[in-house]
Amino acid sequence: MEEETRLLPPDREGLAEAARLLAEGRLVAFPTETVYGLGGDARNDRAVAAIFDAKGRPRFNPLIVHLPSLEAARKIAVFDATAERLASAFWPGPLTLVLPVRPEAGLSPLVTAGLDTVAVRVPAHPVARALLEAFGGPLAGPSANPSGKVSPTRPAHVLSGLSGRIAAVVDGGDCAVGVESTIVGLAEGPVLLRPGGIPAEAIEACLGGPLPTGGHAEKPSAPGQLASHYAPSARVRLGADTPKQGEVWLGFGHDALEADLNLSPTGDLVEAAANLFHYLREADALAGEGGAIAVSPIPEKGLGRAINDRLRRAAAPRPAA
Ligand code: TXA
Ligand code: MG
Repeated sequence: MEEETRLLPPDREGLAEAARLLAEGRLVAFPTETVYGLGGDARNDRAVAAIFDAKGRPRFNPLIVHLPSLEAARKIAVFDATAERLASAFWPGPLTLVLPVRPEAGLSPLVTAGLDTVAVRVPAHPVARALLEAFGGPLAGPSANPSGKVSPTRPAHVLSGLSGRIAAVVDGGDCAVGVESTIVGLAEGPVLLRPGGIPAEAIEACLGGPLPTGGHAEKPSAPGQLASHYAPSARVRLGADTPKQGEVWLGFGHDALEADLNLSPTGDLVEAAANLFHYLREADALAGEGGAIAVSPIPEKGLGRAINDRLRRAAAPRPAA
C-alpha cells in the first residue's frame, strides 16, 4: 500500500508526531549512531509484520529491539553479570546483546522470530534516545533499507529505498559510525555474532578473555538458522486445500473459512504474518500429542515468501528426539 512518507524534524513536535505514529502501529525510520533504523512497536504484531513487508525480507530474521536505557532493557531480557558488565561499558552505543527473552515482556513473537532470545540495544544518538523517550516502549529496528540493499546513513538514503512504504523518517542528519552495531551473543557464553561499530578487541578487553566468532548454522548459538527450529511438535502438511480426517486446519483466505484457525480470512499477507507464530502454537495445542496440522497454500509473493519459508521449516523433517 502506497502512503506519503513524511520527513519529520528532530524537534519536540516532530518527535511527538513520530511517537504518535508509532503508537498507532505505523512505521517510522529514525537515526542511530550506526545507521538509520526502521522503527515499529516491538509489542505490536501488525507493526512488526509491516516492517518485514516494507523491507521485502524473504525471511523472518529476528530484529534488534531498541530501548532508552539499561533499566528498560532489563525488563525485556535477562542480564547476567557478563551482560551487565558489557552494557555498563558500552551503552549507550553501537553494541547489541543477544540475551534470554522475558516472556512477560509482551514482545511480538515475530521480533524474536520465535526464539527464546532477544537482541537488545541502547543507541547513543540523541534523536534515537529522544524518540525512545517520547514513544515510551521498545522499538523493533532493522536497518531502514529494502532487503538486500546497503544500510542507509542519511534520510535521503531511507527515502530512496522506502518512500511510499513507511509513514515517516525523523531527520537526524548523517550517521557518525556508518556500520551496524557489533552483536554479541551471551545466551550460551560470549560469542561474536556480527562485527560492527565496537571493535571485538574492545569487548575482549572488557571481558578479560577471548570472544570467539559464532553464528554458524551448525552452532546452537544461532538457532534461527536451524532448519527445523520453529517446528511445532505436530506433523505439518503444506499446500493443503482441505484437511484430512483428524488434521487441524490452519487456513488462509476465503477458501478456508471453515478452517480451525484462519491466518487471514481476507487473504491479507501482513495480517497472516502477524498471526503466524500465535496460530502455529494454537494449532499445535489443538492437534495434541502425535497430531497433525494441514496448512492452506500461501501465495509466494510479498510477505507470503517469508511465511512460506517459516512454514517449510515447521514442516521440515527433524532429528529424532
Ligand atoms: O546498528 C544496528 O544494529 C542497526 C541499527 C538500526 O540499530 N540495526 C540492525 O538491525 O542492523 P538488523 O535487523 O539489520 O540486524 C539484526 C541482526 C540480524 O543479523 C539478526 O540475525 C541478529 O541481529 N539477531 C537479532 N536477534 C537475534 C537473536 N535472538 N539471536 C541471534 N541473532 C539475532
Ligand atoms: Mg540490515
